Amino acid sequence: MGRDVIIACDFASAEDTFKFLDKFEGKKPFVKIGMELYYAEGPSIVREIKKRGHKIFLDLKLHDIPNTVKKGMAVLSKLDVDMTNLHASGTKAMMEAALEGLTRPDGTRPILIAVTQLTSTSEERMKSDLLINEPIDKVVMHYAKCAKEAGLDGVVCSPLEAGRVHDSCGKDFVTVTPGVRFADGDKGDQVRVMTPEEAKKIGSDYIVVGRPITAAADPVAAYERCCREFIG
Ligand code: C5P
Repeated sequence: MGRDVIIACDFASAEDTFKFLDKFEGKKPFVKIGMELYYAEGPSIVREIKKRGHKIFLDLKLHDIPNTVKKGMAVLSKLDVDMTNLHASGTKAMMEAALEGLTRPDGTRPILIAVTQLTSTSEERMKSDLLINEPIDKVVMHYAKCAKEAGLDGVVCSPLEAGRVHDSCGKDFVTVTPGVRFADGDKGDQVRVMTPEEAKKIGSDYIVVGRPITAAADPVAAYERCCREFIG
C-alpha cells in the first residue's frame, strides 16, 4: 500500500476549489471531496477534478438500507473515483451490498473504507445517545473487524488508532487518518491530533489534511512539507 497525503478540499464552490488547485501547477495531489463541495456542485466537480489528473477520495459517508446503498454505490462507481466510504454502523449486510454495487462489470472498483465512530462522538455521547455501553476503543476495533469481514479495504480512524487497527485487521487493511497537524501549527477544532511524522511512525496509510494546507499562506509549500514528513 503506497502511503499518500490527501488534501481535504473543503470549499463551497468549484471556483474556490480550482483557484486552490491551480496553485499546484504541474503537481497532482490526491484530493478529498466532501459533502459540502459535492452537494454544491454535483457529480460534475468529480469529473472535472478527475480530468485534471487528480486521484479522488469521495467522502460522502453513505448509511441507508442495503439495497439503497448498493444502488447509490453503483452510480458512484461510474464516477471513476479512487476511494469512497460509508458508515460501518450500517451493518455488515449494508457494507456487503455497498461492495457489490461499487464493483464495475469488469471487476474493478474504488477502494471502499468505513467510518467507525466519528471522532466527534465522545464515549459519553455514544452511551447516552446511542445506548452503546462498551468502551469507545472496543467499539472502533469491532467496527473495523466487521468492515474487514464484509470485504472492505479499510477504515477512516484517528491516527492514534491506526496501529491497533493494523494489529487486529492486518497490515494491508488501509487506515485513512484525519486530525493531522504540523508540530508548530494551530490545532483548530481537532482535539486528538498527530504530526505527519508521527502518523507515519504509527503506520497510517493515508493522512487527510485540510486547513494546515488549504489555509496556509503557501499551500504548495505546506503540502510539500506534509509529503516530506509523511512519505519521506
Ligand atoms: O482541516 P482539517 O485538517 O481538520 O480537515 C480534516 C478533514 O477530515 C475534514 O474534511 C473533516 O471533515 C475530515 N474528517 C475528520 N475527522 C473524521 C472524519 C473526517 O476531521 N473523523
